[in-house]
Amino acid sequence: MDTASIISLKDEAAQAKTGVNKHDLSAILRWAQNRYAGRIAFASSLGLEDQVIVDALVRHDIDIPVFTLDTGRLFPQAYDLLAKTEARYGIRIKVLFPEARAVESMVAKHGVNLFLASVEKRRECCRVRKVEPLNRALSGLSAWVTGLRREQADSRSGMDLVEWDEKRGLVKINPLADWSETDVRRYVKEYDVPYNLLHDRGYPSIGCACCTRAVEPGEDIRAGRWWWEREGKKECGLHGYCNHINDSKGVV
Ligand code: ADX
Ligand code: SF4
Repeated sequence: MDTASIISLKDEAAQAKTGVNKHDLSAILRWAQNRYAGRIAFASSLGLEDQVIVDALVRHDIDIPVFTLDTGRLFPQAYDLLAKTEARYGIRIKVLFPEARAVESMVAKHGVNLFLASVEKRRECCRVRKVEPLNRALSGLSAWVTGLRREQADSRSGMDLVEWDEKRGLVKINPLADWSETDVRRYVKEYDVPYNLLHDRGYPSIGCACCTRAVEPGEDIRAGRWWWEREGKKECGLHGYCNHINDSKGVV
């Protein structure tokens, strides 16, 4: 993308912050669809928040394609939910896989469970299995939608509803930025949205099966992600917020 296009997209993101009603999910998604028609996609991890967004897209007939990243290490429940969601809403969710050769060479070099060996190796695994496929999914687009919420982590508390993804040169739209976990659960109940049953078994945040455990009542909602690593490292590179942590604390 040339510099002029990047500047114009950046301006759009800044203007949009003031132009949308923060609490109207369908209005935000409709605005995004109209503004970035054919140049936007929604990244769904099939988490509770993402299921709310899929429901809103279909319910309001908003044309933003949905994709998910299959790392190859997901819970069996994620695949069940993927199929159930497609059947319930009559949609096809695009599934992106990691590059087979990159996975083969990483595993040949470091072993299949390399993520346990060090933070660097964990990040390498996330890079090969998640970040590269994400970048591929977003290539050629102008904007992407996520299910991120500010409350999810300190590193996410400063994010905007519409912001500039510096790392990828894209507008990033986080329509649930201001939602609480209660708001999400209320929506899921009201509209009978299909969800991963692990959410009812102590898994508020679900990633790869080998890197996610249940949390105890009262524990941080991301405590079950990469739980063997010390605090402050709970991002995998999909989202740029960890860069801020990087700058200030020298971690991640
Ligand atoms: S992560 O960076 O720690 O893995 P998290 O699980 O909180 O992210 O999900 C936050 C948002 O990132 C999701 O709402 C979704 O938009 C995106 N995301 C995370 N994992 C995936 C995935 N496997 N496929 C597509 N999008 C994902
Ligand atoms: Fe690899 Fe774990 Fe990251 Fe999944 S969450 S890509 S298994 S390190």
